Amino acid sequence: MTTTYTFDEVARHNNATDLWIVIHNVVYNVTTFLKEHPGGESMLLSVAGQDATERFEGNGHSHDAVILRENYKIGQLAEGEVAKTNFGESKTTNKEIKEPMEEEQKLDYQKGEVQARNMTMFLCVVVAFYAIIFYWFNIV
Ligand code: HEM
Repeated sequence: MTTTYTFDEVARHNNATDLWIVIHNVVYNVTTFLKEHPGGESMLLSVAGQDATERFEGNGHSHDAVILRENYKIGQLAEGEVAKTNFGESKTTNKEIKEPMEEEQKLDYQKGEVQARNMTMFLCVVVAFYAIIFYWFNIV
C-alpha cells in the first residue's frame, strides 16, 4: 500500500540534510540525490519541501530522469491535499491522479477509436451513395 503524507508533513523536510519534494502529487525523498543531481544542488534546494512539478517539467527532464526519479519515491499526497509552491498554491491536487492505462486497455481503447472512425466513414459513403441515386432519379 502506498504511504500518504499531508503537505505540511512534506514541508517539514526542507533542507539539505532532509529534502523531500512533490512531483505530480507523488512524494520523493531526494536527500541522497542532492549531490548527484546533474542540474545542481541549488535547483533541488529551491523547491525543498514544496511542489516541484512545474519546475521539473519546465526544465525538460529526459525520460531517463523520470525513470531515475522512481528510486526516490516514498509515497503520495493524501486525498484532497493541495501542494504549495514558492508561488502559492499549485493548481494540482491528488484528486487528479489517474491510474495509468494498462497496455491491454490502451489497445482496446485504440481499437474502439478505429472502429468508431470506420463506422463514420461507412455512414458517409452510404449517405453519399443514396444522395447520388436520388439525384439521378430526379433528373431522369
Ligand atoms: C527526483 C527529482 C529529479 C530527478 C531524478 C532529476 C534528474 C535530473 C537528470 C538525470 C538531469 C540530467 C538531464 C536529463 O537527463 O534530463 C537533470 C537536469 C536538470 N535538472 Fe533535474 N531532477 C530532479 C528534479 C529537479 C527539479 C525539482 C529541478 C528544478 C527545481 C531540476 C532542475 C534541473 C535542471 C535545471 C537540469 C538541467 C541541467 C543542464 O541541462 O545543465 N531537477 N535532472
